[in-house]
Amino acid sequence: MIRLVKGFHDILPDETPKWSFIIATARSTLERFGFRELIPPIMERTELFERGIGEVTDIVEKEMYTFVDLGGESLSLRPEATAGTLRAVAEHSLLKREPVLKLYTIGPMFRRERPSKGRFRQFFQINAEVLGDDSPFTDAETIAAAHSIMTNIGAKNLVMEINSVGCPKCRPVFRRVLREFLEKYLDQLCEDCQRRYNTNPLRILDCKVPKCVEIVQNAPLITDSLDEDCREHFDAVRRALELLDIPYRNEPRMVRGLDYYTRTAFEIVDSELGKSKAVGGGGRYDSLLKELGGPDVSGIGFAIGLERLSIGIPEDDLDFVPSMDVYVAVIGQKARETAFRLVNTLRRAGISAETRHSDMSLKAQMKVADRIRARSVIMLGDDELGRNEVTVRKMATGEQTTVKIDEIVTYLQGDKS
Ligand code: HAM
Repeated sequence: MIRLVKGFHDILPDETPKWSFIIATARSTLERFGFRELIPPIMERTELFERGIGEVTDIVEKEMYTFVDLGGESLSLRPEATAGTLRAVAEHSLLKREPVLKLYTIGPMFRRERPSKGRFRQFFQINAEVLGDDSPFTDAETIAAAHSIMTNIGAKNLVMEINSVGCPKCRPVFRRVLREFLEKYLDQLCEDCQRRYNTNPLRILDCKVPKCVEIVQNAPLITDSLDEDCREHFDAVRRALELLDIPYRNEPRMVRGLDYYTRTAFEIVDSELGKSKAVGGGGRYDSLLKELGGPDVSGIGFAIGLERLSIGIPEDDLDFVPSMDVYVAVIGQKARETAFRLVNTLRRAGISAETRHSDMSLKAQMKVADRIRARSVIMLGDDELGRNEVTVRKMATGEQTTVKIDEIVTYLQGDKS
């Protein structure tokens, strides 16, 4: 048997109703906030992610599925959706028509991480971006959209953690202060962090190795190094969140795993999954679009991971259990052709209907009806056929009625309304 690729997963029929519910809820919530859907491809030029996400991030350094295609070009499966969204905005000059753009994308992303609970190599994201508006109200509104998706889906135990990671003016100051602090612990840091010390010291704040976590407990905070504009922006974002009653927690040690963030950064953490596996994350990026060849406007966005989100939603919620309107049970061979046509007529009339084409006892067919949660069973045998009638049994009550075949659609439609 050829098995799944490690870290990839099937979403089985029992899970897809919940999956569809989450996607439909996210879609309608985002549309209520004014977002429109963009469907970019799942593969882009590798250079886009190197420039967009940053060359010294874990994602670009070691997690991308990159290959050289037959034309000699380096291509990568998208590890996230922001870079591709911004590429599409720049390429199609979308901001010319609409100076404030709100776009969302739902689909699979690919990162070659070490698989574990809630961590896959192919995972789905609900990704949203707002471009062309740098008001702190936009930050709060975007965080509110993420929060709203989660609450509409019914997720519990969620915490919105926020921070400001400064801007290209004040971040170098913090980087220097942080390096000075970490210098004395350099030989105690993990191998990755020793390298990060030179390449990207802020990432050390986010390391999950216990010794590194212990060291950074006393590290200086980025919020103490913010310049005046960044501080004012951050204060205004928090005030705006309070206006919207969005509960949040300041998390001054939170840095994000992608390099493009400026100012507001946030993560949605499920207290059960723990910090190392945020359900969602996002933030503001002020120069990414320009970097990718678009106009010099800022943006903010977030992505929520569907696999992690769905862990918090119970499978057995009745809303997710599929059902059918009707099962058509055929008794005896003579009725088969009439039953066969009847099922089709019902479906055309908008009634969900199922039958089995092989010879089965009525008892076995009633079991099928139970399994597919049919609300009614239509029984059609030689006797009924002779009278141009069917027997309809309501599964909830066991009540049985005789109905003329050519009145069955109207009868069942009355049932549905
Ligand atoms: P991210 O924090 O890298 O941000 O990913 C967002 C979410 O995707 C995570 O919180 C998690 O739920 C999910 N996720 C990430 N990696 C995995 C994985 N290996 N397995 C399962 N789920 C995973 C971004 O991707 C940014 N592009 C978000 C953003 C949009 N920032 C601005 N705009």
